[in-house]
Amino acid sequence: MTRRISLTQYLIEQQRQHGHIPQELRLLIEVVARACKRIAISVNKGALGEVLGTAGSENVQGEVQKKLDIIANEVLIEANEWGGHLAAMASEEMEGIYLVPNRFPQGEYLLMFDPLDGSSNIDVNVSIGTIFSVLKKPEGSVGVSEADFLQPGTAQAAAGYCVYGPQTTLVLTVGDGVVMFTLDREQGSFVLTEDEVKIPEDTKEFAINMSNMRHWDAPMKRYIDECLAGSTGPRGKDFNMRWIASMVADVHRILTRGGVFMYPWDKREPGKAGKLRLMYEANPMAFLVEQAGGAASNARQRIMEMQPSQLHERVAVVLGSKNEVERVTRYHLEAK
Ligand code: AHG
Ligand code: MN
Ligand code: MN
Ligand code: MN
Repeated sequence: MTRRISLTQYLIEQQRQHGHIPQELRLLIEVVARACKRIAISVNKGALGEVLGTAGSENVQGEVQKKLDIIANEVLIEANEWGGHLAAMASEEMEGIYLVPNRFPQGEYLLMFDPLDGSSNIDVNVSIGTIFSVLKKPEGSVGVSEADFLQPGTAQAAAGYCVYGPQTTLVLTVGDGVVMFTLDREQGSFVLTEDEVKIPEDTKEFAINMSNMRHWDAPMKRYIDECLAGSTGPRGKDFNMRWIASMVADVHRILTRGGVFMYPWDKREPGKAGKLRLMYEANPMAFLVEQAGGAASNARQRIMEMQPSQLHERVAVVLGSKNEVERVTRYHLEAK
């Protein structure tokens, strides 16, 4: 039975016993968790809180922004800008980086986030979430610029997400495994409910948007055809398909019971590596999945080793149960 300790106690133990995280990083994670609690309140209000529907604006991704995309972004900015832990922030919903205003003390960390992941599910009451990634500002850099954010996923100091579903659950790694906290609404605090998240190396569940099948490359079609062939096909076992269209919810299922999640390159926009964003979707999720014993590739190389070239860079994503990720990657590397 997992010890029912609070997020604060867990983080202090990580700081004190394992020397794993400095005080500044512990405090930063606590602020992000508080911001997620605040976002959960808005999410849970739904139609009663005037938070549904679109804001009418478009973001740098070319997506029509939902009201909650903007609300969540503002909550994260306001919660994090004054604490003194950060030098700057970056978000799916903002084109450039957000410098911590001079009236506040500057810190040594950089925070990136997808403030509201799964926006297409907001109005239909399906689980959505917030994804975040923490980097350290490069040593000796004077001031802070977008270039300071362009570090590979292996440089992350922490990563996590909060899923706003039947439970509000915060999932976190600081490089010492993956832990899950469930929001106790009576206390108003996150309580540790899973202290050793492990992804099984094999699975019978795959997650992909099948409507894009005709646009995939051959190795991707080969892998999915084999899954669909089931026990009479080359894999010799039946597979189930799940697709929630909120990455946080699909990844949460995989961290909870295994599976493989894929958002591959497709030929509709050949110049784009994929739909998902490297810095605040793929990298934090790859950190979590690897820390739980899984794998994460762009179908050819380890996502966390990719050198970013721009803040909103897109990437193909294959993550989850190690043996399936390796198979998909092998099929792509074997193809010419
Ligand atoms: P976001 O809502 O932050 O823009 O991200 C949506 C992403 C991801 O959460 C999900 O896995 C994927 O888009 C779903 O894409 P499709 O709607 O094309 O299936
Ligand atoms: Mn979006
Ligand atoms: Mn997203
Ligand atoms: Mn988003």
